Amino acid sequence: MTEPALIELRGASVRFGTRTAVHPLDLRLAPGERLALVGANGSGKSTLLRLLHGLRRPDAGLCLQAPALRIGMLFQRPALLRLSVAAHLRLALRLAGAVEPEPAARVAELLDQVGLRAEAARPARALSGGQQQRLALARALAGRPGLLLLDEPTASLDPGAKREVEALIEGLAAGGMSLVFASHNLGQVKRLATRVLYLEQGRVLADAPVGPFFADGGAALPEAARRFVRGELPW
Ligand SMILES: Nc1ncnc2c1ncn2[C@@H]1O[C@H](COP(=O)(O)OP(=O)(O)O)[C@@H](O)[C@H]1O
Ligand SMILES: [Mg+2]
Repeated sequence: MTEPALIELRGASVRFGTRTAVHPLDLRLAPGERLALVGANGSGKSTLLRLLHGLRRPDAGLCLQAPALRIGMLFQRPALLRLSVAAHLRLALRLAGAVEPEPAARVAELLDQVGLRAEAARPARALSGGQQQRLALARALAGRPGLLLLDEPTASLDPGAKREVEALIEGLAAGGMSLVFASHNLGQVKRLATRVLYLEQGRVLADAPVGPFFADGGAALPEAARRFVRGELPW
C-alpha cells in the first residue's frame, strides 16, 4: 500500500486573468520528501507553493491536504513587524493556535533553534538580513509544521547568511522534515532535495528523484532542464 500523501494535486491549475500560471498538474508529496522546484523566473514556482499552502485555490482541479496537516512557509524576504524578536514568536504561536503548556519556554526553544537567543529583546527590523530570515524561519516553525514551504529562502542573502540559513534547513531535513522549496541554486538543490521538479511556463518538464535528475549531466532531461543541471542557466 502506498503511504498517504501529505498533499496531492489533481489536475490543479491556476490562472491570472487569461494567463495560465500553473497548467493542470498532478502532484503527490509523500511524508519525508524534499521537493525542489526549479525553473526560470515566471515559470510558476511561487504560484505552485502558494497553491500547496492553500493561500491560493486552484481555478480547476483539486488540492488535497492530509487531515490536520500544518504548513509553515518562508518567503524570499521576511515581512517583519515593528516588534521585538521574541514578540514575533509569541504572536506566531498565538496565530498558529499552538497549544503550548509554556509559551515562554517554546519561544526560548525556537530562539535557540535559529541561534537568536541573544537577540530576543531587539527590534526585529534592526537585525541583519540573515538574522531576519532566521527569525522568519523560527516563526514558520512555531506551529510545529509537518511540511515547510520555502520560496527561494536564501536568494536575497549574502554568502555568509546564505550558509547559516541553509545549515538550519539542512538540520530540519536531517530531522525528517518534509520540504518543498524553490531555488535557483544548483548546489542547494543537490544538498537539500530528494526530488526535483523542473517547471517551464507553468508546465512540469521533468520530475525525478535527485540522483537520476542530475545523473550524467541531466542526459535524460529535456534541453532546458539539462542546461540547468550543467550550470548553464537558461535564465
Ligand atoms: N498576482 C499575480 N497576478 C498576475 N500574474 C501573476 C501573479 N503572480 C504570478 N503571476 C504570473 O504567473 C506566472 C508565474 O509566476 P510565479 O509563480 O511568480 O513564477 P516564479 O516564482 O517561478 O518566478 C508569471 O507569468 C507571473 O507573471
Ligand atoms: Mg517566485
